[in-house]
Amino acid sequence: MAAQRLVPVVETSNIVKDGGRNSLSWNEAKKRFKGFSENKVNMAYECVDRHVEEGRGQKTALHYLNEGKEQKISYDELKQRTDQLAAVLKKHGVKKGDFVFVFLPKHPDCHIAMLAAIKLGAVVGPLFEAFMSDAVRDRIGDCQGEYLITDRELLQRVPREDLPSLHTVFLTDGSGQNGEISLPEALSETLDEEFVLEWVDAEHGLNIHYTSGSTGKPKGIIHAHRAMVHQYQTGRWVLDLNEDDVYWCTAHPGWVTGTVYGVFAPLLNGVTVVVHGGRFSAEQWYHTLETAGVTVWYSAPTAFRMLKSEGDDLPGQYDLSKLRHILSVGEPLNPEVIYWGAETLKHRIHDTWWMTETGAQLIVNLPSETIKPGSMGRPFPGITAAVLDDNGVEQPRGTIGHLAVKAPWPGIMKEVWKNEAKYNSYFPYEGWYVSGDLAVMDEEGYLFFQGRSDDMINSSGERIGPFEVESKLIEHPAVAEAGVIGKPDPIRGEIVKAFVVLKKGYTETPELKEAVRKFVRGELAAHAAPREIEIVAELPKTKISGKILRRELKARELEKLGAGA
Ligand code: WTA
Repeated sequence: MAAQRLVPVVETSNIVKDGGRNSLSWNEAKKRFKGFSENKVNMAYECVDRHVEEGRGQKTALHYLNEGKEQKISYDELKQRTDQLAAVLKKHGVKKGDFVFVFLPKHPDCHIAMLAAIKLGAVVGPLFEAFMSDAVRDRIGDCQGEYLITDRELLQRVPREDLPSLHTVFLTDGSGQNGEISLPEALSETLDEEFVLEWVDAEHGLNIHYTSGSTGKPKGIIHAHRAMVHQYQTGRWVLDLNEDDVYWCTAHPGWVTGTVYGVFAPLLNGVTVVVHGGRFSAEQWYHTLETAGVTVWYSAPTAFRMLKSEGDDLPGQYDLSKLRHILSVGEPLNPEVIYWGAETLKHRIHDTWWMTETGAQLIVNLPSETIKPGSMGRPFPGITAAVLDDNGVEQPRGTIGHLAVKAPWPGIMKEVWKNEAKYNSYFPYEGWYVSGDLAVMDEEGYLFFQGRSDDMINSSGERIGPFEVESKLIEHPAVAEAGVIGKPDPIRGEIVKAFVVLKKGYTETPELKEAVRKFVRGELAAHAAPREIEIVAELPKTKISGKILRRELKARELEKLGAGA
């Protein structure tokens, strides 16, 4: 039996110690945060200052590793640095409710910038480090963003001429040509620390993440400070974090996982957060697990599949004895990967499901409960999920339908920036948030992911909107029309595949296809560039509106794959 190949459940986990899954009440959970009763809270206070006040200032908050370079920052130092930076930002005009974008690589500077902005009650917009100028322009432009913290290298991808609202840019590594402010200089002048932290309403805006759907440009999802309740509690029960843990989330804060479970949830729980810079390499990753002594590790199926493909001998060459808990998110976790984890890493891999919009994990595998390989797990305590039919009626167990969650819950988004219609579209049936994912629930309440009900693409766990890629493709001089889909891929889950109709006068050559790919890569982002381009004479379209039928393209592709199998 497959399940017998799994490592047993963990009896000593926090959820068991705290009284089990029925012991949670969100109202009780709120009480951890004193400010809730007076409606005066601040996420950055709870992530940083609180630990210092409670005597844990000496503890390492951030442990940075990047190809031999290492740096440790204590909670004391994190408080001091976020206070100082907040004071500089304030001096330059940042105030409660302003958008502050942060465009930095995986590095403690990124965490510090985010937390400093939050200390002032600003809404922080972390941008993924691989974004190119179009992606940066769309996001900052949509919010009329006024402030940006970046570095000299990434500044080259910020089209300042197209962003008139962006009047103040701070650079973490010196000054720029266009009046950008050098933070090292500004910080050296602001040695007098004043208390700059702003208390905010629990409903006040905290962070904005742009996320893709099947149509239109990415939408800005805004979260509120109240999400701390949900993020703390899932950090404690799902990530199973204790203060002596060394925790590594592999996502960049530009993705919601990197912000919520790479910055907020672990710092709320007072652990040491590993920040790993640089690109993926199996050796580097195992080295980081060993050197930092990682105990809890949150990553994604594509990363596990890439590690698995390097062979089973590699993990044995590293001391991974400290590792005790592994989790996954972002895309379906194949049973084979769970078996690989049990056999080579000697641990269960716990799948978790949530979305940018949901603000925190909703469907989870708790360390104390049985895992059914292939299932995303069960609703987190305090969360009710269901599978609905097209009329919003609950489906019988075992029947596929729309994965929905009873709203609200503490982590749920506060709004979709300037798009109430989009926000409302998530709630087509009274009381339910509808995810856009299709799922099946079994008799015991375990949920099994069945795909999306729209055309959204998920490549390596990264959400990609086909419209955004198509819009970029047709800007290329050779491209007349384009249709983009996710094509199943054994490592990345899906890859971006584009079907392209060429303009008259252009002929298909490998060089042209490569040029088109590079065009998207160079202007939008590497992860959004089509890995495969197929030149076609025409695209299937709806009869009435002439919209490209991506579904048809996908069905053809799946048929081809099936025929080849
Ligand atoms: C997908 C990432 C299968 C899903 C936190 C969802 C998953 C989208 C899983 C959200 C999982 C996330 N199994 N699919 N465990 N977790 N997804 O907003 O389609 O980047 O709707 O949030 O990723 O992606 P997002």
